[in-house]
Parts: sequence; structure tokens; C-alpha cells
Amino acid sequence: MLTFPKNFLWGAATSAHQVEGNNSCCDWWRWEQCEGHKPSGAACRHYEFYEQDFDLAKELGHNAHRLSVEWARIEQEKGKFSQCDLQHYIDVVIALKERGIEPIVTLHHFTNPAWLSGFGGWANKRAVEYFLRYAEFVVRALAPHVRYWVTVNEPTIYMSHAFLFGVWPPEKKSFFKAKTVENNLAVAHIKTYRMIHKTYDKMKLPAPRVSIAQNMMAFVPCTSSRKDKFAASLRDRLYNFGLIDKLTRAKTLDFIGVNYYSRQLVHLKKWGVGNIIWDTCQAGHQPLPKNSLGWDIYPAGLGDILLKLKKYGIPVMITENGICTTEDEERWEYISEHLKNIHMAISKGVPVLGYLYWSLMDNFEWDKGFVPRFGLIDVDYKTFKRAVRESARKFADVCRTGILK
Ligand code: FCB
Repeated sequence: MLTFPKNFLWGAATSAHQVEGNNSCCDWWRWEQCEGHKPSGAACRHYEFYEQDFDLAKELGHNAHRLSVEWARIEQEKGKFSQCDLQHYIDVVIALKERGIEPIVTLHHFTNPAWLSGFGGWANKRAVEYFLRYAEFVVRALAPHVRYWVTVNEPTIYMSHAFLFGVWPPEKKSFFKAKTVENNLAVAHIKTYRMIHKTYDKMKLPAPRVSIAQNMMAFVPCTSSRKDKFAASLRDRLYNFGLIDKLTRAKTLDFIGVNYYSRQLVHLKKWGVGNIIWDTCQAGHQPLPKNSLGWDIYPAGLGDILLKLKKYGIPVMITENGICTTEDEERWEYISEHLKNIHMAISKGVPVLGYLYWSLMDNFEWDKGFVPRFGLIDVDYKTFKRAVRESARKFADVCRTGILK
């Protein structure tokens, strides 16, 4: 029996574009209309059904929920801010509060207003100022109801998929652009962090807690060779901790948001810059169970990462962790094994604030469309009916009692 700290935040995460539906003014929506791409369409119609969805979250014992505000709705046209869409998000966070659920609000979760693309998107440093202006508009309105903020979701994933591998809009494949985007996102975080604190100060509100959600992976060397060990530890340092180091040096993380899913088995064919950065084992060594997208399931990796985060002396929040599967028993197995590792880290002195499962309900999984099923709640995309899964009920016991049996 494992007991978690009192006041632990228990819940699930979503993002606007993936659940709301008809998010037609953002860059992703435009991109989805191209041939061969999977459109998000009405998604889960959460924009209309958020109250029913939060009723379910409450029924499932959740006391926290992570959501994102959609920049493309708030600022459909450059410089024109929509009071009506802002009101929607005020209503959303109030709906959470009324149900005793702590909102954790993300300001950027992969999508941008379509108009930003005309400026080169995040490769243009003006994006930072535009983002800050939007963020300030939102923060001023939501501050009385919100304590936890995530400025940018997974900056490294966004930068690499959109500007380096070119698999997400705007499909750029440029190392130079990717570096610029990475830097612009870091600057955007730092400026937004300071703006949020200043706003709370001016409004005489209790201090907010602001972070990013950093995608972290377990990098495991495939063999005990010097090559594999060196590359695994370098990737860990750069990919997992590079940005965290930078933002803690700037004193702009009140907690560290961790999105953890999987392991990468590192095996280098030869010494070479590209090999050090990319090579993985292709021979099926050290096999692990996989989710339906083929990602390795490796709960121990989360424990290792949390122990490494201890040195920062900052609280940690698991802002995402989840599995896509059509076998729901695997979901509970996944959750409970990760919770065991979180508990281990807490018992070794890592201050973990909470655990947010990805995701509250099945949703639009970016370029993969609607096939992967990550939800605690099943969504029928024809009728939009929700059905609570068995794993959600098991997780609910932990949320209600703070005890993992
Ligand atoms: C993360 C994203 C989230 C979701 C999960 C499966 O990288 O932040 O939106 O797509 O992966």
C-alpha cells in the first residue's frame, strides 16, 4: 500500500485543439485540410460539452485538470482580441473551480493563430512579442481563478517536429530555424513568467506557480560500449535537462512540469555527430511492452528522471503521462507502475506536487488523427457519447484516497 502526500494534485490533461473541435483559425487546422492529412473536425466537441466532461472528472475523484487556452480563438486576427472567446475560458476555469478542481492552464500547446505563419511563425522573433501580448490578455482575466500556469507545452517537441523534421506545420526542415525557434520559445517563457508574476503582484493575488511542460525520455544505452553510454548520457543532458538548466538559471521555474511517456534505446552504428544524436537500436534488444503507437513502456525511467530533478530543489509536477491502447487493462497497469515510481521518488525526497494523466478523454492525436486511444474516458466520434473506462475507475480510487493499493 503506497500513500501519497496530502494535497497531492490528481487529475488529467487535455489541450484545446485536441478536444474542443472546429478550431478553424489555427495553423494546424489549415494544415489538416491538405490532402493526406487527418482533419480534427469537431474533435470531442469539448468546447460545448466541457461542463459534462468536468462532471465526469469530478465523479472520477479528480482535484486538478490541465487544459490549454487557444491563442487562435482569442486573437483570430492579428491585434484583434476576442472578449467573447476570453469569456469562454473564464467560464471554463470557473466550471472547474465550482467542482473543486484546480485548473492548470497552458498558454501554448503546439497550435498558433494562422496569421502568425505569415511572419514565419516562431522562427521570427516578433512571435515572442505577439505571444506575450496574447498571454497578458488571458492572464489578467484568468488570474483570480488560476494559480498554476504552463507557458509552453514541450518546446523541444514543437521545435523539432515543426522546424527540424518538418512533420508538423509549418513543415520546415532547417537546423538553423529550429535553433532560432528553440531560443524564441525560451525567451517567450522567460518574459511570460515575469509578466505573470508582475500581474499577480499588481492584482495583489497570492503568488502564481509558473512552469513549462518539458517532454522527457529515458535514454538507455543498448550495450555497455563507450559510444552508447556517451550518447545516452549526452541526449539525457541536452534533451531532458538543457532547457530546464537554462530556465532555472534565469529563475523562471516555480515548479518543473514533466511530460513522460517512453524510453529510447541508444545504439550507435559508428562515431559521428548525426549518429550521436539520432541512432537507436534497430535489432529489438531489451524488448519492452509498447503502446499502440509503438512507443516503449518503461515506468522505471520516470523514477530515474525524478531522482535527477531533485538537485534543482524545485517542486515537480507530472503534467502528462499516459498510454494509447485498445486494451484498457494495459492502461491501469501503465498508470499504477508509473505511480509506483513516483512514490519511490517522493520517498527519496523529490517534492512531487501532482500527477496528470494524458488524457481525460480520447482525442485528436495530431498527425496520427483519432486512432490512438489515450483517454480515461472513451469517446464515440459519431455520437460524441462519453463512456468511462474501467481504468478510470481504478485511478479514481487513488485520486479519492491518495492510496495506491
Ligand atoms: C504529448 C503532447 C500531447 C499528446 C501526447 C500524447 O507530446 O503534449 O498533446 O499528444 O503527447
